[in-house]
Amino acid sequence: MKVRVSAPGKVILSGEHSVVYGYPALVTSITLRANVTLDNKVSGLFVNPSFARQLVSEGLNKIDGILGVKFNNLKVNIDSEIPIGCGVGSSAAVAAALSGAVLHLKRLPFNLKRINELAYEIEKINHGNPSGVDNSVSTFGGFLWYRKEAEKLKILNKVNPLKMIPNIVFVNTGKPKETTGEMVSFVSEKYIRNKRIVERIFLNIEKVTRGFLKYLLKEETIEFSDLIKENERYLEELGVVSISVKDLIGKIEKIGGAAKISGAGGLKVNSGILMIYHPDKFKFLKFAKEKRLDILPAKFSAKGVKIERK
Ligand code: MEV
Repeated sequence: MKVRVSAPGKVILSGEHSVVYGYPALVTSITLRANVTLDNKVSGLFVNPSFARQLVSEGLNKIDGILGVKFNNLKVNIDSEIPIGCGVGSSAAVAAALSGAVLHLKRLPFNLKRINELAYEIEKINHGNPSGVDNSVSTFGGFLWYRKEAEKLKILNKVNPLKMIPNIVFVNTGKPKETTGEMVSFVSEKYIRNKRIVERIFLNIEKVTRGFLKYLLKEETIEFSDLIKENERYLEELGVVSISVKDLIGKIEKIGGAAKISGAGGLKVNSGILMIYHPDKFKFLKFAKEKRLDILPAKFSAKGVKIERK
């Protein structure tokens, strides 16, 4: 039997890093997907691409530990449109799609809550201490308000925007040298050293996250670009934006735009994806062409994990 399941990548509007410490995050799935195809008409475990073998086999072991289903003979094929390690949730999408595919292959209920729990366990292999926001939005799709109250209590609420978010462009500044896990540890060391300062930054980020929510629900007239700028400042204070990316964001602001990193960020050279707003999208696209920026062809909001026709 062969099954194919896909799940979307994500963009965090606000709340990256602080979400690990129990502050809220507002996040959306995006229109780029990872597909996982499972075929059990083989003998042995085959994983394509081969660099994903360890993650897949550890992930399957975890799933086996939870569901009690063995996977001795399985061909796992992953094909994904989501850039790897750039803050757009590639690993969480694979984790959600793999979890869904296993349930489907074993003819178990395709239950989103269950898929999310399994994907969270797989994310722990990747990052050690994930908040669970990435796997949740990849599983459930759409816009999500997320808060991790405790390991076993996470608040997830779908958000139905009453307002369109216009003129957004995503630019990939490139894969950071640091992994998400390393960036999370970097912030955690800073938190231990300067708890008061970091908590103040997190509280400020929470205000911005709530600002984004009120913008989407039309509860307050807030400039979307101000929210992005403010959020970026706090992420810079946290130290998760590289110098070259700060410089690029400064140039985008100079031509009338606003930009923020999204996801874990990066220290040395790149910082992954940038979410950019410009009131005149064509002016920004001209600038992007001149600067040879790498535009990611993605849009906000997409369906969560789903079974694909083979
Ligand atoms: C990564 O996409 C978001 C972080 O907040 C880590 C996490 O929430 O697990 C940096």
